[in-house]
Amino acid sequence: MKRAVYPGSFDPVTLGHLDIIERSASLVDELIVGVLNNHAKTPLFSVEERVTMLQDATKDITNVRVETFSGLSVDFAKQCNAGFLVRGLRAITDFEYELQMAHTNRSMDSEIDTLFLTTNLKYAYISSTTVKEVAFYGGDITHFVPEAVIDRIYRRAEEKK
Ligand code: PNS
Repeated sequence: MKRAVYPGSFDPVTLGHLDIIERSASLVDELIVGVLNNHAKTPLFSVEERVTMLQDATKDITNVRVETFSGLSVDFAKQCNAGFLVRGLRAITDFEYELQMAHTNRSMDSEIDTLFLTTNLKYAYISSTTVKEVAFYGGDITHFVPEAVIDRIYRRAEEKK
């Protein structure tokens, strides 16, 4: 069974994330989307909300499940019996950090490889941070995030004002 973990913050999930999820899910038997429960950061959405949004956005992809984790991605991947960590690369600016993280992860667990997928060009400029900013100021986010999560993002942005 070929299993991969796609770890991330997903605060919130974007169309770029969904594209990586769809494409990596087609390469493995099972893809586990791991939502980091990071107490150091103050996310816009709780980890439970982020999981629900990802579940709604991926409900038609049968070999994807969404879970939370805290601690190291490699430890979570090992717990899941996964051989791969999936990460998306949007631009060269992502590369330095991602390369460092992949080397660090591999030095901690040589049995887990990082699989990089280049983000679809049409989503390459999208990030969770810019989505939140646009939503906060009432801009159009419909081309940035899965339909299933649009209303929840606007509602939360409104609550934060
Ligand atoms: O969506 P993000 O915020 O870019 O995802 C970053 C994430 C969650 C993949 C990364 O911060 C992570 O793996 N955090 C858990 C701790 C860890 O394993 N760090 C990597 C070793 S430096």
